[in-house]
Amino acid sequence: MDISALHVLAPLFWRAPSAHNTQPWRLDYRDEEVHVGWDHADTLPAADPTGRDLRLSLGAFVETCLIVAADLGLPIEYVPDHCVEDRRVGWLRLSPHGYRSPFTAAQVQGRRTHRGRFSAGPDADTVAALDAVARQAGGEVRVVPDRDRLAGLLTTADRHLYAEPAVVRELRGWLRLTPAHPRYPADGLTDRCLELSPVEATGLRAALAAYPVLRPLGLPRLLAAAAGDPLALGGTVIVLVGPAGLDDAAQVEFGRVLMRTWLTLHAAGLAAHPLSQLIDAPATRAALGSALDGRRSGCCTSPGWAGRSARRPARRAGSAAPAMPARDQHGAAADPAGPIEVDRFRTVELPTAPSLLSDALHRTVISSRPPAGIAHPTEGGSTPGGCSTVEGEWGSMCR
Ligand SMILES: Cc1cc2nc3c(=O)[nH]c(=O)nc-3n(C[C@H](O)[C@H](O)[C@H](O)COP(=O)(O)O)c2cc1C
Repeated sequence: MDISALHVLAPLFWRAPSAHNTQPWRLDYRDEEVHVGWDHADTLPAADPTGRDLRLSLGAFVETCLIVAADLGLPIEYVPDHCVEDRRVGWLRLSPHGYRSPFTAAQVQGRRTHRGRFSAGPDADTVAALDAVARQAGGEVRVVPDRDRLAGLLTTADRHLYAEPAVVRELRGWLRLTPAHPRYPADGLTDRCLELSPVEATGLRAALAAYPVLRPLGLPRLLAAAAGDPLALGGTVIVLVGPAGLDDAAQVEFGRVLMRTWLTLHAAGLAAHPLSQLIDAPATRAALGSALDGRRSGCCTSPGWAGRSARRPARRAGSAAPAMPARDQHGAAADPAGPIEVDRFRTVELPTAPSLLSDALHRTVISSRPPAGIAHPTEGGSTPGGCSTVEGEWGSMCR
């Protein structure tokens, strides 16, 4: 068994969520272990000056790697070893026991942010299940009680965001509002994943291009208004509250908790839309804290059923995702012998270490984004699930 076998799973590891979809993680393969680090070029110094979202994203990535490898039969463990100088959070290495998780690679592949309409929120059992996940790490999950107040906070937070030229410049750098953008299939926020119509995408591009001129004339207010009220799209706002005083390494660990809660939502048929701006703006962060009885660590989400499936966002390693064995309702492989179509574009043989993977992976279908103009087979369907998340110093928030 060789740690380099992880290479073949990278496209699934890359399904992890990251703020602005920067995919900041890097895997550095050594003889016996893989260094999990990050690239400064993919951080958000303006929007995320404390590095909170970076660390949460890296934690979500670590958890994703562990879940995928465990589900596909590669026993690995994670050893935290946070070192800012070396831009490293820890190591992945082979372990006789591997990782135990109730989640599957298929769930990792299927989870995505949903920024559209939600038809209902989570039931009490789902909130209790989320709370149980958070409590294992010393946190908790809370439903935000005052929806009207929250809507006002969101508007304030959006205005704060759009008033900062450096934040807007950075956001603009990660927006891919037309398929002609050279990085459209690779990373960042596309018009599709933001659920923008062609007219809205063109309008946003024009407004952001004119930002330096129009900012003194009130453009931040207009942009905040144009962002609309995501709470009006349904769902319930919940907050994942983390333990107080998390240091950097603990924030990475909390990113793992965030990923587990997000997958718990996904497993319940719900999706999420992070609303980090609520905890990025000092005023709204404080107001939210008081709405949560003064708690200072957390993350907020409003799970619900989405009216239609969310758009699959771009990934650098997303053009070649190994397919997972189909699963029956109890999580058992439903058809371990045949090739499983995730998307139906290319079939390949896995190049390395087939003995590490299940038989179902010997022949596999590679997922890739269709060329422009060809509808994505998983988009526009009626798959239920919807919630939104916001990451914060307290943790993250979701609506
Ligand atoms: C720490 C963190 C913070 C995020 N903050 C926001 C946010 O404020 N607003 C938003 O729309 N999405 C936010 N997201 C969602 C990302 O934009 C999303 O994960 C990324 O674009 C990849 O898309 P996917 O989740 O559909 O795979 C956040 C994600 C993470 C991990």
